[in-house]
Amino acid sequence: MIKQATRIFAILWLSLFTALANSAPNKPLVLRTAENQPQDYPTTQAITFMAERLAQLSEGEINIKLYSGGQLGDEKDTLELTILGGIDLNRVNLAPLNSIVPETTILSMPFLFRSTEHMRAVLDGQIGEDILAAFEPHGLIGLAFYDSGARSIYNTIKPIRTPADLKGMKIRVQNSDIYVAMMDALGANPTPMGFGQVYESLILGTIDGGENNWPSYETTRHFEAAPFYSLTEHTMTPDVLLMSKYRWDKLSSQQQVLLKHAAKASVPHMRKLWDNRTEDSRKKIIAAGVQIDSGLNKAAFKAAMQPVYDQFIATDKMRSLLERILTVQP
Ligand code: GCU
Repeated sequence: MIKQATRIFAILWLSLFTALANSAPNKPLVLRTAENQPQDYPTTQAITFMAERLAQLSEGEINIKLYSGGQLGDEKDTLELTILGGIDLNRVNLAPLNSIVPETTILSMPFLFRSTEHMRAVLDGQIGEDILAAFEPHGLIGLAFYDSGARSIYNTIKPIRTPADLKGMKIRVQNSDIYVAMMDALGANPTPMGFGQVYESLILGTIDGGENNWPSYETTRHFEAAPFYSLTEHTMTPDVLLMSKYRWDKLSSQQQVLLKHAAKASVPHMRKLWDNRTEDSRKKIIAAGVQIDSGLNKAAFKAAMQPVYDQFIATDKMRSLLERILTVQP
């Protein structure tokens, strides 16, 4: 609690300092950017790519100062700070945004996308644009979606092949009602917590498992602490790059155009990095001797998720959005 208060105080102080520095004429603009993944992770690399592009396009006027590896805190906290203007840019998963921007919930729904190509086509089209635009009334500017792959369940105890195997197991989820509902529907005990606390909780036994994509399971070394990985691929909730609206409104329209352009330009680069990294992480995890369950009964996992659809796709608006997503062809 004290640590958290100190961090928030330090960030607000840093913002004030940067705001004063940036108000001086002809000073380069410095955008403080939060990223909870390490330096070599595809989203972090995509932001670095974007930073280079921005510096070039703005002739050194706009700079990104990247705080990777969760230095600025967990996503729930950094999101609050971004809304307040204490952080300028933030790359997060959409799950912790579900309660802030209701339009994002649809993209966390279980077994929504048929493939990576389907997901990318949805995000690249009008639906993706509409969801990015929905951030603004909540104090955030949606700049671009990044891939976050398919998430699967891992645990410290045993192979999971059917929902029944999960009964009573404490599975860490992101801070999102849909994630809680998904684990409830599968019969597990959902335990919401920040990404940064998962490793320690696996070691201490306060949780039995978690769920994530191949690269995150690898970079966090969760695969060593929880060496049973079941390829449930139950959701493909994307990541998103956001800007604080507070800060956005202080930029000139030309600076805004450059930022949007550089963010969009980083997407194809990110996707290439993502595909390669997923393959590398998969190989590394298999080589480490993790038990991978690929032949599980996916249909049973899908069927068990029906209550999540009943709960979250409950209005005509959500039903028609779901219909539109399902009809998108890659
Ligand atoms: C993914 C995502 C992170 C998120 C993490 C989580 O790895 O890229 O942004 O924090 O999932 O499970 O919390």
